[in-house]
Amino acid sequence: MKKKSILIGSNGYLGKHLAFFLEQEGFENANFDIHPQAATGIRNYKKIDITNENDFFELNPDIDFIFFFAGLTGTSAGFDDYKKFISVNEIGLLNLLNWMRKITCKARIIFPSTRLVYKGVKNTPLLEESPKETKTIYAANKLNAENLLWMYHNAFDIDFTVFRICVPYGNLFDARFSYGTLGFFLSKAQNGDDITLYGDGLIGRTFTHVLDISDAIVRAIQNEKTKNGIFNIGGENLTLLEVAKLVAEKFGVGIQFTDWPAMPLKLESGDTIFEDTRLRSVISLPYRHSIAQWIKDF
Ligand SMILES: NC(=O)c1ccc[n+]([C@@H]2O[C@H](COP(=O)([O-])OP(=O)(O)OC[C@H]3O[C@@H](n4cnc5c(N)ncnc54)[C@H](O)[C@@H]3O)[C@@H](O)[C@H]2O)c1
Repeated sequence: MKKKSILIGSNGYLGKHLAFFLEQEGFENANFDIHPQAATGIRNYKKIDITNENDFFELNPDIDFIFFFAGLTGTSAGFDDYKKFISVNEIGLLNLLNWMRKITCKARIIFPSTRLVYKGVKNTPLLEESPKETKTIYAANKLNAENLLWMYHNAFDIDFTVFRICVPYGNLFDARFSYGTLGFFLSKAQNGDDITLYGDGLIGRTFTHVLDISDAIVRAIQNEKTKNGIFNIGGENLTLLEVAKLVAEKFGVGIQFTDWPAMPLKLESGDTIFEDTRLRSVISLPYRHSIAQWIKDF
């Protein structure tokens, strides 16, 4: 039987790719986001504002999964826009949880969390239970959201699965766009500018192609063992310097090292390298894409 789902945040970077993947995998999926129009390629779409609790009562509760990929992301932005961050990232989730509680919706919530909930440790892979540290409003929102999911499961039997994602890359819809630090490297290099790295650039990250993320999520949730658990999604482990070198080589630019500015240094997580043995104990993970190849083909 076809799995039924709704995906909230389908106009976003991860949501768009997941919507595409769900359709390919034969899910009967309905898409939602705050924009009046669906992003290109997104079908079966309606508008929702997750900060408005009444909007949830328009949803069809006869579903297996709710992919909750709407949110606000950012590092220092959260200090200025703290009300908005709490409203979207925490109250938005609480609106969903309370709607499910009131109408006894039996769907499972699939929630994307982040590397930023971890206290980074030099050259040490992070397990799901590794120590936590939240240096930004966004990181605190995400850790709190994980706690809210557990709390509503405990009190009201609402099921969830959390996937912690480190650094996604790749884009099926807009080849010129990539997220975060890698996006910054690429846009500098494409303009013919040298890439600037703070400090020695030897900070480690796990990079995962957005389609490998979608694939891991969609396969993992179909295994009952992922119910009410938290799972790191793995990938390739590289330092920012290694990635900068790949980009610099591709575009023929140099790499400049500069001292850390005070605030970015305070907010920096340190190495976040993901150990994904928990997820691998449930599904096999081929991680088909390679960042070196992706940059080469850019
Ligand atoms: N991109 C990453 O590096 C990364 C890593 C880990 C976790 N995540 C999490 O994954 C989720 C999706 O991230 P993304 O990279 O696709 O972000 P994104 O900003 O591209 O997408 C977020 C989407 O949420 C929608 N949205 C915002 N406010 C809304 C509201 N009030 N009602 C309905 N929709 C609303 C936006 O319109 C947008 O389409 C977020 O929760 C993010 O925290 C992202």
